Amino acid sequence: MSDIKTTICEKVSEYVASKGASLSPEEAVLLLETPADSKLGDLALPCFKLSKTLRCRPDGIASELALSFESVEGLERVEAVGGYLNFFFGSDKYKNDLSELLKDDYSKLAETGAGKTIVLDFSSPNIAKRFHLGHLGTTVIGNAVRNIYKFCGYNTVALNYLGDWGTQNGKQIVAYKKWSSREKLESEGIKELERIYVLFGKEAEKDPSLNDQARAAFRELENGNEEYLEIWQLFKDISLREYTKTYERLGIDFDVWDGESLYTDKMPAIVDELREKELLKIDDGASIVDLSEYNMPPALILKRDGSTLYPTRDIAAANYRYNTYKFDKCAYVTSAGQSLHFAQWFKVTEMMGKEWAKDLVHIPYGTMSFGGEKLASRTGNIILLNDVFDEAVAKARAIIEEKNVAHENKEWISEAVGIGAVVFSALSSSRIKDTNFTWEGTLSFEGNTGPYVQYTYARAASVLRRGNSAGGYDGYTPEATETELIRKLCEFEETVKRAANDYEPSHISRFALNVCTLFNQFYHNCRILGSGGETEQFRLALTSAVRNILGRCLDILGMKRTEEI
Ligand code: ARG
Repeated sequence: MSDIKTTICEKVSEYVASKGASLSPEEAVLLLETPADSKLGDLALPCFKLSKTLRCRPDGIASELALSFESVEGLERVEAVGGYLNFFFGSDKYKNDLSELLKDDYSKLAETGAGKTIVLDFSSPNIAKRFHLGHLGTTVIGNAVRNIYKFCGYNTVALNYLGDWGTQNGKQIVAYKKWSSREKLESEGIKELERIYVLFGKEAEKDPSLNDQARAAFRELENGNEEYLEIWQLFKDISLREYTKTYERLGIDFDVWDGESLYTDKMPAIVDELREKELLKIDDGASIVDLSEYNMPPALILKRDGSTLYPTRDIAAANYRYNTYKFDKCAYVTSAGQSLHFAQWFKVTEMMGKEWAKDLVHIPYGTMSFGGEKLASRTGNIILLNDVFDEAVAKARAIIEEKNVAHENKEWISEAVGIGAVVFSALSSSRIKDTNFTWEGTLSFEGNTGPYVQYTYARAASVLRRGNSAGGYDGYTPEATETELIRKLCEFEETVKRAANDYEPSHISRFALNVCTLFNQFYHNCRILGSGGETEQFRLALTSAVRNILGRCLDILGMKRTEEI
């Protein structure tokens, strides 16, 4: 809290005490509001919130309280208006804030997470299929949440829980042996894996015994059949080769690649534990945990044939992660379609008495569609992520060429802006909302888009390259456009904290958009370069603070800093 805010709260507290009631400074701070319009001051106290305790009319309180603030350092003046007491800080406060911002030092914030660990399970595709639009959310939201927690000082473990173990792998093995070869796989890559998987589906409709073969093949795999393991490893290598390309384009890396297969041998102990704790019930031959008390369908632990299920594996995996990382939080980013699954097995770990059950977090998000088209998986008619990226990059390139034909770094910038546009789109509204992409809404340089943020960042960077900021600005009095911008920039730290608390990257993207709008207003209203003297020095300093903070936002969101566009 700034000194002046502390002083205000103390004085309000004293005033209330003098009236025979009580309000601590900590309680007082909760009453304060930041007026949307800076003409109404920098802070405001809505006195109607006090009128009940003090049995006094709000306007009476406001004008009486105003007397306590007649000569307070750092406070220019106060105004009592219609039950509000408005505080005006004066320009020194803003200049101090600006010099704080210019330090670009967030080590205080980083102390809040020091020594704590968050494990983040995100992206986690099922192998042998290319990335499609459905993978975008988990991948970019997970990465942004990781960056947010890093910024807050947490030790982050980005974990890719590859879907590499299940009956689908049995199907792939059968299909491979029937209709493909190592040579074909090596040359065609993941497309070949998709082709034979689709083919398997078609053939199995005609000949259902293929499904039995697939189950048998998976059982062989589980029993350690070497030939099958080798084929499976090949599928995995080829898939990873493909995924890595996409992760590289997105600038995302993982600390751990523990796929589902890793946990196979860790499940029996969990099943035993469930049994010992008398949580397992036999239902029609299957083993379940009854969750009716919690208004949920039962969690399925073992199928009738004794094979394990998705929840079983997740419980074993969480247990292993706790033992390995001693996490303070373990979060999972998936579509909201899996919310019940997580609620169920989280509850099971609680029933097992795991002390870490309370630290499990599900981060769900809404569906993503493109131009109104829902993705139809299985049919083969899916929107591939790399196609979306390629198209976005081509469109970005066209716009950039139009603006500036002779750009040296055209390729790099087009890639940064095209991919950034898609990433920003996925992060710009509350994650739980459904998102429908349109090219206009994603790529326009003027709307609430990634290109708008990157363009504004580049504009600030370009001003700074051309300016010479060597002097001070002690005598300068900032204009309203400028103080408004400083006020917004000062909300950055608080915004990151909120984003961490809510696992909500859109707090950052919205904040970045607000900064851009205010900066562009400032840019158009106030001449920067050539304004001369302290005015120019102040404006360059402000521009520099904007660049720092927008850069931080781009980093957190997982977008590239574009020094020029
Ligand atoms: N592989 C799963 C899918 O594609 C997502 C895994 C999410 N993580 C987890 N621990 N269940 O739907």
